[in-house]
Amino acid sequence: MSQAPEDKPWGGRFTEATDRLVEQFSASVRFDRRLYAQDIRGSIAHARMLAHTGVLTVDECQRIVEGLENIRIDIEQGEFAWVDELEDVHMNIEARLIDRIGEVGKKLHTGRSRNDQVATDLRLYLRDEIDALNGKLRQLITVLLSLAEQEADSIMPGFTHLQPAQPVTLGHHLLAWCEMLMRDRARLADARRRVNVLPLGAAALAGTTFPIDRHYTARLLGFAAVAENSLDAVSDRDFAIEFAAAAALIMMHLSRFSEELILWSSAQFGFVDIGDAYCTGSSIMPQKKNPDVPELVRGKTGRVYGHLMALLTLMKAQPLAYNRDNQEDKEPLFDTLDTLHRCLDVYAAMMPHIKVRREVMKKAASAGYTTATDLADYLVRKGVPFRDAHAVVGQAVRHAIDAGKDLSELNLEELRRLSPKIEADALAALRLENSVAARNHVGGTAPAQVRAAIARLRERLLQPPA
Ligand code: ARG
Repeated sequence: MSQAPEDKPWGGRFTEATDRLVEQFSASVRFDRRLYAQDIRGSIAHARMLAHTGVLTVDECQRIVEGLENIRIDIEQGEFAWVDELEDVHMNIEARLIDRIGEVGKKLHTGRSRNDQVATDLRLYLRDEIDALNGKLRQLITVLLSLAEQEADSIMPGFTHLQPAQPVTLGHHLLAWCEMLMRDRARLADARRRVNVLPLGAAALAGTTFPIDRHYTARLLGFAAVAENSLDAVSDRDFAIEFAAAAALIMMHLSRFSEELILWSSAQFGFVDIGDAYCTGSSIMPQKKNPDVPELVRGKTGRVYGHLMALLTLMKAQPLAYNRDNQEDKEPLFDTLDTLHRCLDVYAAMMPHIKVRREVMKKAASAGYTTATDLADYLVRKGVPFRDAHAVVGQAVRHAIDAGKDLSELNLEELRRLSPKIEADALAALRLENSVAARNHVGGTAPAQVRAAIARLRERLLQPPA
């Protein structure tokens, strides 16, 4: 039911009631009520700042703060009736404040606008969420590091072009995932610096005629700086877009991990077994056990990419300063956050349920001629130029394929036929364990390096992300 226009907080200049259709079309309270805690926090800080500069008396400020705190309790106890007629979280809370504490409640909105208010709420919200997500990335990295430690010596084929390339350790492979997630943490931390700036004081767009102390408000809310330009402060959502881009990269990484887990758990690879608790079956094929969790994570990546594009497009043609378009920033942002939280939670929980089939992995490594480079490197150490060594080993591989053997199964006589430089110690170079152990430098796959890298990563996790 439409209210008479004068019942709207902005109804003074209107003579006709808002069409019900418009009310429903423009209301955002169904989704922006999520910002209630930040909205109340921001309002309390604003009221305190107004008391600090003498715009409100200490008593007025106290009544407003108490009223807002009681509203927070009502909301948390499910005793707050949100109404579409009051459009958004801001006007719902303000109207309730006036109901509760009377006339003095009407003074809260002095020297501010919903335009700087919503930008403040969103920044406070996103800042909290970034901190929570950083904790979750840290958790996932920690779980992966345990698995990497356990699998520091486990040999698997490393791939390029998804063809067996050179042996690596599974620990090393998992550390590659960790590095990606470490950069994701750093990206979030970097985005946070630009989120952590106070818009309040910009008011609708031009600032306010009241004596305000923006640095005081910033201190109360823990913002590192105040926005320098009022027009910019109320309008740009680049901080949210930047976060969405960092989120898209996180999902891209999770999607790559998922793709590998899906491949690895297939009958064809058989490298890992994902525990029953993290798989589902088929309603028709009784034998099936499907890797639904990684599949869904891979699938959800699409919606997060979509939200990034939605936010970029939302912003691209907006003239300064605030436009109502910006109300559309919330649903993509919230869904991005929800998706990230769920994917990171389920991933960290799933990792301990992944059983590694070491023997299968190792067999796959030995079946793929993956030590061919080691034999070529051996010849180089014997003085053969690398290009010639490459050709000789190519022939060795050809010979092994024809003989239906792996390189490590060729005997010394067969090898010596290809090059007289090959001596008994070449056989050692063809062993998988020696191949990985030989890559013994920072960033290499040798088990000793994997263990050292794990220790360094654990140290890095104790530092603030950078
Ligand atoms: N619900 C609005 C939003 O999300 C709040 C700001 C409204 N400002 C305005 N002038 N209509 O952006």
